[in-house]
Amino acid sequence: MALSQLRLTVLLLPYFILCATAFTTRSWQAASQLAAQKTAAMTIDEKVGVLTGVTMAGSRCNGDTHPVARLGIPALCLMDGPAGVRPGTGVTGWPSGINAASTFSRRLIRERGAAIGDELRGKGIHVWFGPAQDLMRNPKGGRGWESFGPDPYLNGEGGYETIVGIQSRGVQACAKHFTANNQEHNRYNGSSTVDDRSLWEMYGYPFLRSIEADVSAIMCSFNRINGTFTCSSPKLLSDTGFLRSNGFKGYVITDWGADHGFAAENANAGLEMEQPGEYDPQLEGGGLFANGGLKDSVLNGTVSAARLDEMVKRVLTPFYRLGQDSGFPETNFHTQQTGGPYNQNIVVRTPQHVALAKEIASASAVLLKNVRTIRRPGQWYGNGGQNQREYGLPVTKSKIANMAVIGEDAKLMDRSLCNSLNECTLGTMSVGWGSGANSLEFLVAPADAISAYVGTSATIASSLSNDAAAGAAAAAGKDVAFVFVNAMSGEWIVDIVHDQGGDRNDLELYYNGKELIESVAAVCNNTIVIVHSVGPVLMPWSTNPNITAIVYAGAPGEQTGPSIVDVLYGHYNPRGRLPFSIADSEAAYGTEIVYDKTIGPLTIDYTEGLFLDYRYMEQNNITPRFEFGFGLSYTAFSYSNLQISNQGPFKVIKFKVRNSGSVDGTEIPQLYLGFPNGSGEPKKVLRGFSDVGLTVGSSKTVEVKLSVRDRSIWDVVTQKWVVPSGQFKVYIGASIKDIRLTGTF
Ligand SMILES: *[C@@H]1O[C@H](CO)[C@@H](O)[C@H](O)[C@H]1NC(C)=O
Ligand SMILES: *[C@@H]1O[C@H](CO)[C@@H](O)[C@H](O)[C@H]1NC(C)=O
Ligand SMILES: *[C@@H]1O[C@H](CO)[C@@H](O)[C@H](O)[C@H]1NC(C)=O
Ligand SMILES: *[C@@H]1O[C@H](CO)[C@@H](O)[C@H](O)[C@H]1NC(C)=O
Ligand SMILES: *[C@@H]1O[C@H](CO)[C@@H](O)[C@H](O)[C@H]1NC(C)=O
Ligand SMILES: *[C@@H]1O[C@H](CO)[C@@H](O)[C@H](O)[C@H]1NC(C)=O
Repeated sequence: MALSQLRLTVLLLPYFILCATAFTTRSWQAASQLAAQKTAAMTIDEKVGVLTGVTMAGSRCNGDTHPVARLGIPALCLMDGPAGVRPGTGVTGWPSGINAASTFSRRLIRERGAAIGDELRGKGIHVWFGPAQDLMRNPKGGRGWESFGPDPYLNGEGGYETIVGIQSRGVQACAKHFTANNQEHNRYNGSSTVDDRSLWEMYGYPFLRSIEADVSAIMCSFNRINGTFTCSSPKLLSDTGFLRSNGFKGYVITDWGADHGFAAENANAGLEMEQPGEYDPQLEGGGLFANGGLKDSVLNGTVSAARLDEMVKRVLTPFYRLGQDSGFPETNFHTQQTGGPYNQNIVVRTPQHVALAKEIASASAVLLKNVRTIRRPGQWYGNGGQNQREYGLPVTKSKIANMAVIGEDAKLMDRSLCNSLNECTLGTMSVGWGSGANSLEFLVAPADAISAYVGTSATIASSLSNDAAAGAAAAAGKDVAFVFVNAMSGEWIVDIVHDQGGDRNDLELYYNGKELIESVAAVCNNTIVIVHSVGPVLMPWSTNPNITAIVYAGAPGEQTGPSIVDVLYGHYNPRGRLPFSIADSEAAYGTEIVYDKTIGPLTIDYTEGLFLDYRYMEQNNITPRFEFGFGLSYTAFSYSNLQISNQGPFKVIKFKVRNSGSVDGTEIPQLYLGFPNGSGEPKKVLRGFSDVGLTVGSSKTVEVKLSVRDRSIWDVVTQKWVVPSGQFKVYIGASIKDIRLTGTF
């Protein structure tokens, strides 16, 4: 081979790798026709195999289906999300769903989805269990961090962008958990009593957006609604039920063992795929389609042959639609084996993914308090400006001689103390635990990132435990003390932290975090608190004058350390917003976790209807400590020039946002709609948002288009979306309470 040819080969290699992952998509219709042809060519056993998991023990992935090799149909590999590829090596530990929500950025959420899609594809995963779109009905709900918070609109947008991102890489998204699946206690048998309007406007609403994003699959949940298990509910799943009547073209998968009763009951109700394909005694569910159950039901006529074919066709359609039949990487890992031919340990994380994970983590950090919101270089605060002492954020590296880093949450966990679902008793909290957790393999802890950044420019006193006295000793007399605290939750099947069964027991910080903060603030007048939490925590200490700044950083994923350094030191101007309210008591939220763990069909009454979180607080004149949509910046923004016009079926709202401060930054303007009196809606509901990057002094016009559905309520009598008559109010603001412009139409 001539030298020139050799060089050409080397140069082209990356190109070939890219080409190998290229794929061709089809329309729903073309894919459905191809799926129907394949179905027609199958035996009944092959059909049932496509619809049934191969059991947990038999799966390489979290769930596998049976292949039909002679027709070119592989075993589909189904894997957990929704915070990345779980469990995996060589993958990125992405910021959680609730942090994606905190960015209020469609761009970042979509890019996160696309990057996760690349990693899934690289591992040969066909179907990803994400996004989660369960509303955070109660802030203590164990899995609240997996989705996008208590607001249905934000959950809908978060889900939409995630699905578009994932599927742009030829991987199927499976939105979950459908629906009213909002607590972990008694999750296998609880029955949620949800009225029709709340189903449409709250718990079903995010799934409408999934369907509009062409989602491939939807997972029915463990719980019952009004006494009927969701996986056998015709009202939810049948051809005239909620999903199909809203245009859903994909297939319905059970949560793990969530089908109950008889195969026919579930298949005829609208269920397509059973996972993991065996009975689970803990749930008393699953294993209905497996072991001849579905086949016999077809043979004895309780499930029609036509329905069986429809089920298979629906499962195969997204496979062909996303071009997974050609050029899709072989599944190259095994969740249950460390060696063997499947474990090729293919690294799918890239420097670009790490940078994006860090950017999203920084963009999701919410600055709740800052004694100095605008940085003015050369102008110093405190002590009459004489000793140039700085308080609050951002911290100038060169101004700090002595500092302290405090708290167990700043420290890298001992990974050997974490279980397989990433429940770790100690160390920093970057993601909740359970099947929705992600990889901690490359996590960079805050304390390590800070010391790497600070280098020799300052002396760091570290007290990386929650020992209040040791924390105070480290902080006394320091120029700045960073205190890291946390609160965790997860899926209830794992339970090594506090005996809490997944849902939190209360809204307190873990491990006496409150006492740690208070003892540090008692001795250091520049105490900066960083909270890593799965959801709202009580912050009675927030008004302490020695606490000069508070950053709510959520569950930011593996780049937790570097991302918070950028925010603390002003390399990233904070822009994250709370995707929930932080109030002073659980009562302010208007819902409860029903903790009864006993066997039996526990009833959970969704009596609050449409009034969750900020909607409940506004209705009841409860002022939260930090409200929904709130977050500070190192700069300031002004709003002007609200205009409302008609454009076809849309109401078009335009306004101007200007960076009136002294550093570049991003504003998150929010649109809340006030429905006409008598419509039964909350005072204000989120119906639009944008992220607007603005250099100092510049301004941009923001446009929000309100569709007919955006202006509608669900009318239970006519079973239709109806625009109520009367005057609508438009509120444009920087949070639900910080309203800058108002108008009407
Ligand atoms: C549940 O029952 C309520 C009335 O109690 C009804 O409005 C609603 O439509 C039912 N929902 C489902 C999914 O069956
Ligand atoms: C049909 O088969 C299913 C699965 O074995 C069984 O549960 C059901 O009782 C049968 N029904 C009739 C009418 O034979
Ligand atoms: C804050 O504490 C430092 C060190 O203890 C002290 O020098 C400074 O004067 C204090 N600042 C204020 C405003 O009390
Ligand atoms: C604030 O910190 C100073 C030490 O810098 C301490 O003397 C004072 O008591 C603290 N104030 C509060 C309210 O804890
Ligand atoms: C669910 O409730 C029924 C009725 O009380 C009971 O028979 C069953 O054991 C319960 N199952 C679980 C998993 O709690
Ligand atoms: C709607 O109700 C509010 C509060 O009760 C009242 O102030 C307002 O005037 C009413 N608006 C209309 C258009 O009736």
